Amino acid sequence: LTIIWYIHVMARTIIVSNRLPVKVQKDSKGNLHYKPSEGGLATGLGSVYKQGDNVWVGWPGLYFTDESNKNEASQRLKEENMSPVFLTEEEIRLFYEGFSNETLWPTFHYFNQYALYKKSYWVEYKKVNQKFCDQVVAIANPDDTIWVHDYQLMLLPDMIRQKLADASIGFFLHIPFPSFEVFRLLPWRKELLDGVMGSDLIGFHTYDDMRHFLSAVSRISFLGNHHGQIMRDRRTIVVDSFPIGIDYDKYAASAASPTTLSREVKFRTSLGDQKLMLSIDRLDYSKGIPARLQIFDIFLSKHPEYQGKVSLLMVVVPSRDNVENYKSLKEEVDLLVGRINGKYGSMNWTPIHYFYRSFPLEDLSAFYRMADVALVTPMRDGMNLVCKEFVASKLDKRGVLILSEMAGASKELSEAIIVNPNDKHQVVDAIYEALTMPEDEQEEHMEYMQDTLKKFNIHHWVKLFLGRLDQVKEKQRKMATK
Ligand code: G6P
Repeated sequence: LTIIWYIHVMARTIIVSNRLPVKVQKDSKGNLHYKPSEGGLATGLGSVYKQGDNVWVGWPGLYFTDESNKNEASQRLKEENMSPVFLTEEEIRLFYEGFSNETLWPTFHYFNQYALYKKSYWVEYKKVNQKFCDQVVAIANPDDTIWVHDYQLMLLPDMIRQKLADASIGFFLHIPFPSFEVFRLLPWRKELLDGVMGSDLIGFHTYDDMRHFLSAVSRISFLGNHHGQIMRDRRTIVVDSFPIGIDYDKYAASAASPTTLSREVKFRTSLGDQKLMLSIDRLDYSKGIPARLQIFDIFLSKHPEYQGKVSLLMVVVPSRDNVENYKSLKEEVDLLVGRINGKYGSMNWTPIHYFYRSFPLEDLSAFYRMADVALVTPMRDGMNLVCKEFVASKLDKRGVLILSEMAGASKELSEAIIVNPNDKHQVVDAIYEALTMPEDEQEEHMEYMQDTLKKFNIHHWVKLFLGRLDQVKEKQRKMATK
């Protein structure tokens, strides 16, 4: 009994993702600063790794040249249950910017014309996945649950499986899984599938992503499935969809906090009594930012009565700025914003308030509260959490969400105005509909979406995935003893 108790107490969850939820930055004086990372994944799992002895393995987002800085950061991150994997300059260039973001990211988001197929990227991708593997294996106990996240680490599950044959391994993909006809374009398609299939449970945000994955497995690896269960090397692997939620209470509480309220008063005073539309994204071509700006342009010319009456507050968070396609996108966005502001602006009205930086939560909450309309129109998005955060922040239930059908979230938030971002005139009409929607109708839709998001929050998602992984493992153990 003592032994069982001991093992139970020792069992932890090890989260592994390319990026840690905290990023280290160095100022001009050489001092280190610790900031929350951008992106849904980091915010999403924040509540999990801090519990008990759980640990999060990942990159702290900086290239360290100095050993003493490295030691200082390691020590500090360790105190907060994080185990940093330091990447060299070359690894950042070839693994992170290269294979992850110039090969996999464009392919998986259906921008395969942007994808580069370079052997040097692939070689480095394998090497860095092995580096993550070595670090995980060095800290893992046999009873731990290892939860690997996202496209940067697709080879990791099988690498860990080679070392820890009985480990409980889950994998979750936070971006879309493309249809077979797009996935097959990758020269390393088979190896990527083999890597992921080292897991016991494989999760996606939507049913369609799961279906595309199973189709790729059947056509590339020649493995069939029975209701999402794949038999490989006499081990059953379960594949399913688990749409991620947000920390609802955190966003609702932040929207009610005194700091947020005072920020809102400040922002409102400078804006006057105009209507406000909001968009918040990382700078990424998958987010459809230029198309959104063109849509706003068409809207203002089609509905001149709204000139001077509505502004677009556009927050673009810098991201992957060493990658060529992101640099050129930044220029395109700058140009379009300037063009539209120059075309319509007046002494007392700026059509687009454009910010190229990140904001603290209280500012974002104030933006969410103030916005009459949220324009979430990505060309392709695994889930998109901004639309969920907007809904959770609407304490008075007023406001309208316009949501692209290409975002995973559209499958859950069907009460939003759902649009195809390529159909610019449809989005223009959606904006008009949103701005003229009666308040009782806004409240009705908002309440419905809030009920869904409250229930299917981040805690529910974690419990569902890890609970399922336990079940799968339990079933495997029973089969082995039969
Ligand atoms: C998306 C990905 C994450 C990634 C985040 C930020 O949400 O799914 O894996 O961490 O973008 O991107 P970055 O390249 O800065 O880590």
